[in-house]
Amino acid sequence: MWGDSMANQAKLEIVGGRPLQGTITVSAAKNAALPLLAAALLTEEEVVFDNLPRIKDVEAMLEVIQQVGGTIRELEDGRWAISGRNLDASREVPNELVRKIRASNLLLGPLLARCGMAHLSMPGGCSIGSRQMDQHIKGFRALGCQDIAISGGYIKAHGPLPLQGTVIHLDVASVGATENIMMAATLAAGTTVIRNAAKEPEIVDLQNLLNKMGARIRGAGTDVIKIEGVKKLKGTSHSIIPDRIEAGTHLVAGVITNGQLTVKNIIPEHVEAVTAKLMEMGVKLEIGDDYITVFPHDWQLKAVDIRTQPYPGFPTDMQAQFMALLTLVPGISLITENIFEARFNQVPELNRLGANIKTENGTAFIKGVAKLTGAEVSATDLRAAAALALAGLAAEGKTIVENIQHLERGYEAFVEKYCQVGAQMRRITGS
Ligand code: EPU
Repeated sequence: MWGDSMANQAKLEIVGGRPLQGTITVSAAKNAALPLLAAALLTEEEVVFDNLPRIKDVEAMLEVIQQVGGTIRELEDGRWAISGRNLDASREVPNELVRKIRASNLLLGPLLARCGMAHLSMPGGCSIGSRQMDQHIKGFRALGCQDIAISGGYIKAHGPLPLQGTVIHLDVASVGATENIMMAATLAAGTTVIRNAAKEPEIVDLQNLLNKMGARIRGAGTDVIKIEGVKKLKGTSHSIIPDRIEAGTHLVAGVITNGQLTVKNIIPEHVEAVTAKLMEMGVKLEIGDDYITVFPHDWQLKAVDIRTQPYPGFPTDMQAQFMALLTLVPGISLITENIFEARFNQVPELNRLGANIKTENGTAFIKGVAKLTGAEVSATDLRAAAALALAGLAAEGKTIVENIQHLERGYEAFVEKYCQVGAQMRRITGS
C-alpha cells in the first residue's frame, strides 16, 4: 500500500559526520495507532483518524482489519475511516499476515467483545524476546471467556456476549494486555477493574478514543483502570498522540551529530526519561510546550547508567538508540535491559562500526571510543535499525545499513526527514 515490492532488499546508505541542523517534525505514534485501529472495530459506525502514520506496521494492521471484515477508506484530506460494521470473527487471518504484525493480537479484545469469538494465529516470539501472551489470556478468562485454546499455532477463544465485568490483577504490567482487556471490557456487563495496569501514554490515548466512542473508562495513566461496560459504542474522529520514541530518536540524532536540532510536535512530559538522561550527560536542551531543541556541545559528555523500565521509566524502545550515542562518550556506561530478554541485537553491529561494547547477563558495558568508522551492518529489529542509522550519521565515511524493512515498520519518512536537516542519506534497493 505505502511501500515498494523491493522493501526486503532495501538498504540505507549514510555518509556520516555532518551535524544535523534545523527542525524535524514527529509523526503520530505507532504504538498508539495500532491499538486505536483495533479499538475502532468496537463499533458499527466509522471511526476517523486524522493522522495515521504511513508506516509498514500500520499498513499490515489495516490488512488484518480487512481480513476480519473491517473496511478502510482513505478520505480526500488524507484522513482514514475505519468501520467495523461487517466484522466477522469466523474469517481466518492468514498466518503470514499475523506474523507480519505482532500487534494483530490486539484484535482479540474487540473480536471477543463484539462477536463472542476470536480465531487468530498466535504471533510467535520475535528477535527481541519470547513475548508471552499469558496476561492477555488471563484477562479474557476473568471476563468470562473460559473456552480459550491454543493449538497448532492458533488461539481460539469463545465467550459469552456480553462478557462479564470483573477485577483483574496483572502479574506483569503488560502494555498489550492492558489495552486488550480495556477494549474487551468496554462492552462487558458491569464494571471491570485492571490492577497493576501499564501506565504508558499510549494507554491514555486509547482511553481518550474509547471514551469519545461512548465508553466509560477512567484511570488510564495510573496502575488502576476502571471500565464501566456500556451496551454500544459509536463513531468519532481522533488525532493520535505524537510518537515519543520517534521524538527520542531525533533528540539522540541531534546530540550524536553535535548539531542544533529542534524536534517539533512533541509532548515533553512523554520523553522526560530521555531528556533527563541527556541532561545528566551534560547535553544542553531547551524544552518548550511542544518542541525540544538540542544544542551543540564543545565539552565532553559524561558516561551514564541506564535501566529500562515500564513508563515513566527509561523506555526499552530507546535503549538501542541511546547505546549508539554512548559508544562515543568517554568512560564506561552501563545499560541494563529489564523488559525484553534479547534486545541487544545491535551490539555486534555497533562493534563493527568501531564501538567497544560487551554484554553480560542482560547488561551492556559500553566503553566510549574516540570515533566510529563506516561499515556494512545489518538491522535485526526496528529499534536496532534506528540505532545503526544514528551511529552511521556520526561515523566517519560511508555506512550501509541492510534490512531497513525493520526501520520502515515504525518510522514515517525517515530518510526524507533526516535529509531535510542536513543528513547525507539515501535508500537503495537491489545489490
Ligand atoms: N509479557 C508477559 N505476558 C504477557 C504480555 C507480556 O510476560 O501476557 C512480557 C513480555 O514478554 C515482555 C514484557 O512483558 O517481556 C513487556 O511486554 P508488553 O506486553 O508490555 O509489550 P507489548 O505490548 O508486546 C509494546 C510495544 C513495544 C514496546 C513494549 C514495552 C506496541 C505495539 N508495542 O509491546 O514496542 O517495546 O510495549 O514498552 O505497543 C517497538 O515499538 O519497537 C516495540 C517493540
